[in-house]
Amino acid sequence: MWDVESFRDHFPLFSAQPGLAYLDNAATTQKPAAVIEAIAGYYSSGYASVHRGTYALADAVTRTYEGVRKKVAQFINAGSEKEIVFTSGATGGINLVAEAFLADKLNSSRSIVVTAMEHHSNLLPWQALAARCGAYLRVVRVDPDGRLNLNSLAECLDEHTALLAVTHVSNVLGVVNPIKEIAAEANGRNIPVLVDAAQGAMLHPIDVQEWNCDFLVFSGHKVFGPTGIGVLFGKKERLETMRPWQYGGEMVLDATFAHSEYAPAPARFEAGTPNIAGVTGLGAAIDFLTATDRSAALEYTTGLRRYAVGLLAEMPGIRILARDAADSVIVSFALNEIHPHDIATFLGQDQVAIRAGHHCAQPLMDYFGLPGSTRVSLAPYNTEREVERMAESLKEARRLLGG
Ligand SMILES: Cc1ncc(COP(=O)(O)O)c(C=O)c1O
Repeated sequence: MWDVESFRDHFPLFSAQPGLAYLDNAATTQKPAAVIEAIAGYYSSGYASVHRGTYALADAVTRTYEGVRKKVAQFINAGSEKEIVFTSGATGGINLVAEAFLADKLNSSRSIVVTAMEHHSNLLPWQALAARCGAYLRVVRVDPDGRLNLNSLAECLDEHTALLAVTHVSNVLGVVNPIKEIAAEANGRNIPVLVDAAQGAMLHPIDVQEWNCDFLVFSGHKVFGPTGIGVLFGKKERLETMRPWQYGGEMVLDATFAHSEYAPAPARFEAGTPNIAGVTGLGAAIDFLTATDRSAALEYTTGLRRYAVGLLAEMPGIRILARDAADSVIVSFALNEIHPHDIATFLGQDQVAIRAGHHCAQPLMDYFGLPGSTRVSLAPYNTEREVERMAESLKEARRLLGG
């Protein structure tokens, strides 16, 4: 049984903003006290840089920093912490793979396969890279119910494919893709796979070994951690063959004016003084998640989504995207007569925080024939009452703004 009130108590924002119904968790999640305290503690009583210092404080900070790498490896079941690179976020990790892994492998006969439900972060880097290298993109179709079309996937993958980039969970629909099955399709053809786990990492179990993906990214701020920090998992054999992406301190073993020998992964991909506060906060967030019964949290949150869908479905003229996605914690919808931005502004005035627009997935919106949608995205600290407030405010918006 999920105890929403006890879970909610971990988050100081809800006492600071008692009137707010925060239903914008796909954008970013609130922070538990443990994460805030870990970051404050690092700055106030444990501050030094990592890797370089020979004094006790620097040594302690380095141990914490490298300890988080181990925690992250366990969290996603990576074989080794050497497969974990700290980045600025999911976007940073995808751009790293584009430049350091794929750029050298492309030419006019090679394709990059993406899906129609990718966030711009998992589309634009590939699109720009393909344009630069003369390669081309192929796009896996989405079915009208919001599921990825696996026949289309099989059609897109061929001997020309240089990489498959696929999202674990859609940030618009909340649909969870069968990554193990999808990766197996690519693996069977020797095609590397990158998984964008930005949305799934909070509640859905991630197992990079079981999935057999080559790369996986996620962002700290969507898993109760800080902004500006993210994770790139890369299989050891992939990372070892990749050239550096950025050059500077910490990523080199030996440097002369004539030549430099780069450090092995992951240091090779972490040039410069890293985001130590971010890593510290991410470590606290992973501890927090690990101590949480995530399967009970997921069950509760998908139940809350079902409740929201039930309330929304009563409204005339509503179109709910991926309405029957049982494993989703996101509900996106469109109302015939009101623009999503007007809905979000109206609900905002009622202190109901939701999101409107194309959600950085414009091609998916085009596919559904919509300029944008209104998105309610839930977390395990949300309550039925908050969902009801959203529905009540929406009804009022329809009454006042509707045609
Ligand atoms: C599915 C998905 N991928 C990637 C990203 C990008 O994450 P970030 O902006 O933290 O790099 C997001 C953010 O909304 C997302 O939802």
